[in-house]
Amino acid sequence: MVRLAGSVAAFLLVFHLVVSAASGSSSVVLGRKGSVAAAEQSPAVEEAVSRGQPAGRYAVIFDAGSTGSRVHVFKFDKELDLVPVGGDIEFFSKVKPGLSSYAGQPQEAANSILPLVKKAKRVVPSQLMEKTPLKLGATAGLRLIGDERADKILEAVRDLVHTKSQFQYNPDWINVIEGYQEGSYLWVALNYLLDKLGGDYSQTVGVVDMGGGSLQMAYAISANDAAKAPKVPDGNDRYVTKEYLKGKDYNIYAHSYLHYGAFAARVKILNAKCGQFSFCMLRGFKGNYTYNGQQYDATASPEGAVYQKCREEITKALNLSAPCNTKSCTFNGVWNGGGGAGQDNLYLASSFHFLATQVGIIDGKFPSAKSTPSAFRVVAKKVCQMSVKEAKAAYPSVQDIHVPYLCMDLTYQYTLLVDGFGLAPTREITLVSRVKYGEFYVGAAWPLGTAIEAVAPKKMNQDA
Ligand SMILES: *[C@@H]1O[C@H](CO)[C@@H](O)[C@H](O)[C@H]1NC(C)=O
Ligand SMILES: *[C@@H]1O[C@H](CO)[C@@H](O)[C@H](O)[C@H]1NC(C)=O
Repeated sequence: MVRLAGSVAAFLLVFHLVVSAASGSSSVVLGRKGSVAAAEQSPAVEEAVSRGQPAGRYAVIFDAGSTGSRVHVFKFDKELDLVPVGGDIEFFSKVKPGLSSYAGQPQEAANSILPLVKKAKRVVPSQLMEKTPLKLGATAGLRLIGDERADKILEAVRDLVHTKSQFQYNPDWINVIEGYQEGSYLWVALNYLLDKLGGDYSQTVGVVDMGGGSLQMAYAISANDAAKAPKVPDGNDRYVTKEYLKGKDYNIYAHSYLHYGAFAARVKILNAKCGQFSFCMLRGFKGNYTYNGQQYDATASPEGAVYQKCREEITKALNLSAPCNTKSCTFNGVWNGGGGAGQDNLYLASSFHFLATQVGIIDGKFPSAKSTPSAFRVVAKKVCQMSVKEAKAAYPSVQDIHVPYLCMDLTYQYTLLVDGFGLAPTREITLVSRVKYGEFYVGAAWPLGTAIEAVAPKKMNQDA
């Protein structure tokens, strides 16, 4: 205990020294209260900034997605709290199209992000540039153009960042970000915004994030459980990531379920039907479901959707009976992380929140709200009895193209939570889109988690 406390104090001190060296000041402000008060009352701080001696740390994070590239510039104070950049909680800018649109043209790909690099350079004070990490995470979509072409693009981007900017450069920071990393960085961002970091892992919240293509789950587990994590074969994502944040070690279990995101899962479910029709489709629908340029017959049965039969199709799509080589699995043979206190308080993001607001499970004017898996079942059972026309009238905020899939989507989210993740139907969950942070509402997303990791003081290596 004493030793731990001692080492925490030691590197906090090192961090303060680094920061104050960066700001050109020799005074070390110890403790949160002191420095906040100083920042509030002292015009000297502002003066120092205008004289070109800024305090705090910046991080420049690129999110290179399939439809476009985005840059986020975050600024942190000495306590690692976010502070506004030019009136907003972050600086943000984007360009279209994404890097993957430049297959076979690596230089053009790299050039496409140059305007964003230039904008980031205008935001970060020049004296701090060399101490400001620049990271770029290309989402897995980049690999769809082939490993070799993707690597050439990343190589050109590294070269551009290295030669055209003075930001802190590390070739390893410019890479494809794997699904499990998206999950663990999202966990960092969410727990940071909710002020859950710095205490025991059992105080943190778990997160399930449903995108269009994939689904991520992340939560903190005990060091004991982390040590028992099953080995994964080479080339597969590992299950546990270690992070050292606000003076505490965390073992973050994270897994990304590729093809189980909201739009991809519809393909899995349509493929799992037994006869000619899917019993998840609303009465009156005729036609195909198009995903990634492929078409899948989604015509409804003459009697329309049947909740119980739809659930069976979804159970099949989840592959619940897949062999489990570890002690316990969620679905499709994936280790469940062992459960525990880090999962007690579960936040559901993206599609979960969106769908819930669209069908009135929660009120969309709140950035987060509590609910239960059962709430999804209640609406699902009601919707499944409707025709497309009736559902359109009942849920006017749902986009027309998504209405025929309402029974499927709601039953999927319910079945995933209860049968896939093993939650009790009455279990309290929090649906979240943004988190209140000071006077701002901040979206929890992986770029913020990456930024926090990049600027957080590193643990002093006890083995060294
Ligand atoms: C649905 O897709 C099939 C090919 O998979 C195509 O033959 C058919 O014309 C499509 N139907 C509609 C209504 O677009
Ligand atoms: C179910 O899991 C097994 C074993 O991992 C796999 O071989 C099979 O393809 C999966 N089925 C589906 C529908 O994903």
